[in-house]
Amino acid sequence: MERIRAIYSEWDQPTRMVLIVSMDLKMQIERHQLMIQIEHLSKSFGDLRVLEDVSIHIPKGKIHGLIGHSGVGKSTLLRCINGLEKYDSGNLIVDGINIKELTETEARKFKRSVGMIFQNFSLLNRLSVYENIALPMRCWKYGKNAIDKRVKELLELVEISDKINVRQHELSGGQKQRVAIARALAMNPKIKFCYVMRLHLHYIQKLPVQ
Ligand SMILES: Nc1ncnc2c1ncn2[C@@H]1O[C@H](COP(=O)(O)OP(=O)(O)OP(=O)(O)O)[C@@H](O)[C@H]1O
Ligand SMILES: [Mg+2]
Repeated sequence: MERIRAIYSEWDQPTRMVLIVSMDLKMQIERHQLMIQIEHLSKSFGDLRVLEDVSIHIPKGKIHGLIGHSGVGKSTLLRCINGLEKYDSGNLIVDGINIKELTETEARKFKRSVGMIFQNFSLLNRLSVYENIALPMRCWKYGKNAIDKRVKELLELVEISDKINVRQHELSGGQKQRVAIARALAMNPKIKFCYVMRLHLHYIQKLPVQ
């Protein structure tokens, strides 16, 4: 497993986020190798300035962590990157695509390439583990057999095949998170965002990085 370290640490400034990146990352990052390029991003909710002039460059093929105090804006930043939230100013370029310039259809396609494991998992109560994981593929109209094969693969990956037919109230917290990981990986996303327990990071790392 790759070790991680802080590039810079600003724990004494609780209103700032800290980006942590993998150990072997070369410091000279070339522009064309960037997966996520955030330039001077700012975002407010009314009077509350959540993101202020945030610039972060993340190259392809690496696992990164974003850490910071509660309420500092980590989730807001992630929602901006995956197109769920609009930002006020700055630029956000993901895999060469400027998010702001996408049409509605392009934005929908873009969201497909991003897998998100939500902080509260966002599993649907009325659906079984199987159906929760199948959901993204159903939305994209995949065939029954393709869905079945993929869901079972993913259940194996996150080691939860024995819970295939249960609903989320019968799962432990860690098991819920594993279902959420499987669902986020269902569409083979290029970028995976997750609030993951360190314990579960290896499920993400097992997959080939694109
Ligand atoms: N839709 C919204 N409308 C108004 N304020 C919001 C909205 N979403 C988030 N905020 C505020 O923006 C700030 C940043 O929230 P965010 O969820 O990004 O924090 P976070 O860093 O992810 O925190 P945590 O570690 O607790 O998950 C908080 O003060 C929050 O109350
Ligand atoms: Mg959050």
